Amino acid sequence: MLVFKHKADLKRHLLNKREEGNRIGLVPTMGALHEGHLSLVINSASENDLTVVSIFVNPTQFDRKEDLENYPSTLERDLELLEGTGRNIAVFTPSVQEMYSENIQAESFDFDGLEHQMEGKFRAGHFDGVGTIVKSLLQLVEADNAYFGEKDFQQLQIIKKLVEKEGIPTQVIGCPILRESNGLAMSSRNERLSPEMRKEAAFIYQTISKAKTLFQTKSPEEITKWTENQFDNHHSLTLEYVEIANESTLEPVKSFNKKDRYRLFIAVFANSIRLIDNIALN
Ligand code: PAF
Repeated sequence: MLVFKHKADLKRHLLNKREEGNRIGLVPTMGALHEGHLSLVINSASENDLTVVSIFVNPTQFDRKEDLENYPSTLERDLELLEGTGRNIAVFTPSVQEMYSENIQAESFDFDGLEHQMEGKFRAGHFDGVGTIVKSLLQLVEADNAYFGEKDFQQLQIIKKLVEKEGIPTQVIGCPILRESNGLAMSSRNERLSPEMRKEAAFIYQTISKAKTLFQTKSPEEITKWTENQFDNHHSLTLEYVEIANESTLEPVKSFNKKDRYRLFIAVFANSIRLIDNIALN
């Protein structure tokens, strides 16, 4: 498994691989890899000859300094995990300077309003940061396919919009959420939860799974109210938002119809650690 730190070296390697007729998959990550990331790698490896895994904690997508400073970093273990998959992988671990030069600033994007919903309301500038780094990685790797987890469903829809608007010829593929045995969505941030909190955080998935069962009989407002009530008296989890939105526009809905697809989205604080999850309702 080759590890690249510099764009120019990776570009040269990929040029050779492409000339040999290899299909290239890209899995962008911020490291602290878990089974969820590995499932993206496995998906990519089954559809491409070579998978590029980028590991880069992107400073411009963090709205809270504390979140960036505490983001877990486990590079050595990440490399072992990737090696352990036995797949054909090239790892890209650039420095901040390599990705941004002197100007550590996000480009400003218009994602046709997708960026103003949910996470966009609570994390100012987050999707400009994501857009900036993902665009840069897609342009560098020129992958046939790029893989993203559905846990960050809004991010996935925004990246699909990014490639459409920028005319980037990479297919963006969403992969299902992987969950811990208690249902908690896998996330690098789970590393920061105490064992006790990790158990308690299972309440998030338990609650949204129950909320899903209300889909046939209740309105969006009733389901969100019911979900909010479940968190009202929770002693350790604080609900930031719960929203039911149309899957493609991400706009909140007031009523359901038969032709559209809907998802419930949630963000919860477990102490200072912010966890997100979502579930398809139909
Ligand atoms: O989902 C993530 O880990 C990040 O937002 C991504 C896509 C790697 C961009 O930094």
